[in-house]
Amino acid sequence: MSDLEALVLQAETDFSAAADAVALEQVKARFLGKSGTLTELLKGLGKLDPDARKTIGAAINIAKQKVESALEARREALRYAALEARLAEESLDVTLPGRGHSKGGLHPVTRTLERIEALFRGIGFDVADGPEIETDFHNFTALNTPENHPARSMHDTFYLEGACDVMLRTHTSPIQVRYMQAHVARHAGAATMPEIRIIAPGRVYRVDSDATHSPMFHQVEGLWVGESVSFADLKGVVSDFLHRFFEADRLDVRFRPSFFPFTEPSAEIDVAFPSGPLAGRWLEIAGCGMVHPNVLRHCGIDAERHTGFAFGFGPDRLTMLRYGINDLRLFYDGDVRFLSQFR
Ligand code: FA5
Ligand code: MG
Repeated sequence: MSDLEALVLQAETDFSAAADAVALEQVKARFLGKSGTLTELLKGLGKLDPDARKTIGAAINIAKQKVESALEARREALRYAALEARLAEESLDVTLPGRGHSKGGLHPVTRTLERIEALFRGIGFDVADGPEIETDFHNFTALNTPENHPARSMHDTFYLEGACDVMLRTHTSPIQVRYMQAHVARHAGAATMPEIRIIAPGRVYRVDSDATHSPMFHQVEGLWVGESVSFADLKGVVSDFLHRFFEADRLDVRFRPSFFPFTEPSAEIDVAFPSGPLAGRWLEIAGCGMVHPNVLRHCGIDAERHTGFAFGFGPDRLTMLRYGINDLRLFYDGDVRFLSQFR
């Protein structure tokens, strides 16, 4: 074997032994670098006579090409190995179970609100709404509750800083006022005023907190004003609604005489828990009564000719009764373990 063949063989062996690209470049320098073996051989050519320079030069060049292609082959092999290693490391185990998405659901109180709306639309009621930030006039004064009236003390609320006549509404009854005023304006000049038949759901606020009171809760106002609306109509509409809402033929409902400045006579409505551990226990679910003539007059309605009834349901309480929940604050804790039971 010639010296050159031995040199090529040595280079191939050393390249194969290089474990990574850095080691390979170091080995390369030994053969092809500035003072590498092959470079030195080429430098030595100058000392030879022309004939020898030609044949030996050609032989060295062939050896150099072999070394270079062995180097390139090893580089390629190392690149491939590195890629293989990375692919193996980053590989996906497609047999693992997926993380999935848990299914959401409507909040139980939202369900109640949707149910109330559907049932009242079914008997010809429209759905109205009003602002959660109310004026003192709409929340109290127009509802026959002048400043210093003792009934205001049961509706302590959150006032806006720097404005004592603007507050978070304490009930949905101000929507009665807004709706009646707009209705009168819409039908001004007509020979007879069309009946008003609306419900108005929304959030309301009070300084309250216990098992049956939350500082933010919901109400659904109801209002029916016409020329011969009576307390019997109120009882009929409310009883019919409650039986449909609870899908019960037999339901313990009682109208308990009460007082509101904006209705006369007035009552509060209680329902007994139909089943579950609280079965038989009464829970107040609404206030109601015949719209006070002063309220009608405040809104520009002829109180000699018109009467009306109104009610204000507590849908949070209706939800408690429907599902047998004993603490209404659970609805607002945001605990998924509780809420997911209603999906
Ligand atoms: C009123 O708010 C009257 N505006 C209802 C009314 C409307 C009477 C129209 C006459 C005519 P009351 O304060 O009782 O009334 O509240 C009505 C219902 O809201 C209660 O029966 C109860 O179901 C619910 N409720 C009251 N306070 C809370 C509270 N803090 N958390 C949850 N529900 C409440
Ligand atoms: Mg009450």
